[in-house]
Amino acid sequence: MKDEGNHIHSVFDEIIPRSEKEVFLNQKSKVVWMTGLSGSGKTTLAKYLERKLIDNGYFSKLLDGDNVRTGLNAGLGFGEKDREENIRRISEVAKLFLDGGIICINSFVSPTNEVRNQAKSIIGEDDFVEVFINTPLEECEKRDVKGLYAKARAGEIPNFTGISAPFEAPSSPDIEIETQGKSIEESGDELYQKLLPLIKLES
Ligand code: ADX
Repeated sequence: MKDEGNHIHSVFDEIIPRSEKEVFLNQKSKVVWMTGLSGSGKTTLAKYLERKLIDNGYFSKLLDGDNVRTGLNAGLGFGEKDREENIRRISEVAKLFLDGGIICINSFVSPTNEVRNQAKSIIGEDDFVEVFINTPLEECEKRDVKGLYAKARAGEIPNFTGISAPFEAPSSPDIEIETQGKSIEESGDELYQKLLPLIKLES
């Protein structure tokens, strides 16, 4: 067997540290982990949040399931193992942004306590902000923005979260946003206000 992979010399101790980048950007970097059912409003709120952050001088990067699954995670499906791999890779990517002082907003269904705990342990508990976008299944199904619930009910999409695959609501999220009966602005502003103390750099 060829000698592969044993010649890795980490240079993490030589590169400009995160703390210096946080000072440069005047913010504390965090991974804002948005979990919730498909159609719950995660990505809509994530986009709103990113705009609000940028407008207020905070630098962020948004990652979401639908986009990451066409590139980095193309080829991964929705079985338990593939979802785990999806979340593992995305957590590693988020950690790189975190290390660059950047607020990384992650919008992924991440349906089980197990995958969210996996993400939290890769990213680190102190830097992981779990945000539960709490929209009841009936409401998501009523909205059915992408038409996926109808297909899932018709048996055309296997392992569909909320229909034929589980969604476990987080038991103690850092931030919880209920979206039903609220506008995007209301829910988005609530999220921004709750996040603000966590990303402010103490002077
Ligand atoms: S996760 O469970 O692995 O975290 P992820 O957030 O990447 O899921 O992708 C979810 C998105 O993929 C949904 O918003 C939806 O548009 C689409 N999708 C396609 N098939 C499924 C499925 N079986 N379950 C959930 N979402 C699906």
